[in-house]
Amino acid sequence: MEIVTSITDFQNFLNQKRTSGEKIGFIPTMGALHDGHTSLIDASVKQQKTTAVSIFVNPLQFSPDEDFETYPNNLEEDVDICRKHAVDILFFPTQEEIFPEGLPEPEEIGGIGKIFEGKSRPFHFQGVATVVSRLFEIVGETCAYFGEKDFQQVVVVNDLVKRHRFPVKVIQCPTIRDDDGLALSSRNVYLSKDQRSDASVLYRALLEGANLISNGEKDSENITKFISGLVKDESEGDLDYVGIVDFETFTPLDCLNTSGKQVQILIACQFGNARLIDNIGVVIP
Ligand code: PAJ
Repeated sequence: MEIVTSITDFQNFLNQKRTSGEKIGFIPTMGALHDGHTSLIDASVKQQKTTAVSIFVNPLQFSPDEDFETYPNNLEEDVDICRKHAVDILFFPTQEEIFPEGLPEPEEIGGIGKIFEGKSRPFHFQGVATVVSRLFEIVGETCAYFGEKDFQQVVVVNDLVKRHRFPVKVIQCPTIRDDDGLALSSRNVYLSKDQRSDASVLYRALLEGANLISNGEKDSENITKFISGLVKDESEGDLDYVGIVDFETFTPLDCLNTSGKQVQILIACQFGNARLIDNIGVVIP
């Protein structure tokens, strides 16, 4: 596996592969890799000839009161993981390499940046969109793998690709979970033992909510209230939001009356120092 820090070296490697006809799979990450990340890597290794991973902790997507300074960082372990999973090239740039003229003005992303995660973390998605645009400019034509765990992020990235006409196909991969259902996240290391055990309520509550929909409940408020109640009863977590959106358009839905349509239930909750998000898809019967 190649490890490069410069854009030129990264692009030279990818271009060489392209001239021999190889398709590139690309997985952007912030490191502290776990089985969620490696599921994206494995999908790319299976589907593409060449797999590139980037590790860059993007300052633009953290607000001043968030964990940019303390974000988990295990480069040696990450390198090992990438090797074991047959990554061809690991791009590990500095901030100066990515933003040589200093931090740029954030990318405009419209209304989606103002709801759910966007409302709770102002500028977060502008920061994500800015760095993902930069990475897509660097990588060029590619299939880029993203996790459904960050459902709203995938919606933002799909929109970005459309608006900028990046030669990128976005591939959405399922959420990888621990045995008790908790979605894997680099931030799970912030959880104490009790918080870790509490946090499993999120997936249980999502499953119960999905069951209500499958059993014919049409009123979103009844479902979100039920989920909130369950999280409050069964954990010390500080619930931020529960919502139901259209899978394709991300429009928040009050009434679930279109049979056959997939909706996504979204949840965000704070457990101690860890802000966790999760979601589940369900088709309206
Ligand atoms: P990061 O949190 O490192 O995640 C990198 C990719 O791994 C994202 O596409 C994310 O959705 C996916 N991922 C994380 N946990 C997962 C899980 N349990 N199951 C499946 N996929 C999972 O997301 C980011 O970094 C950044 O915002 C980034 C896109 C790199 C831009 O800075």
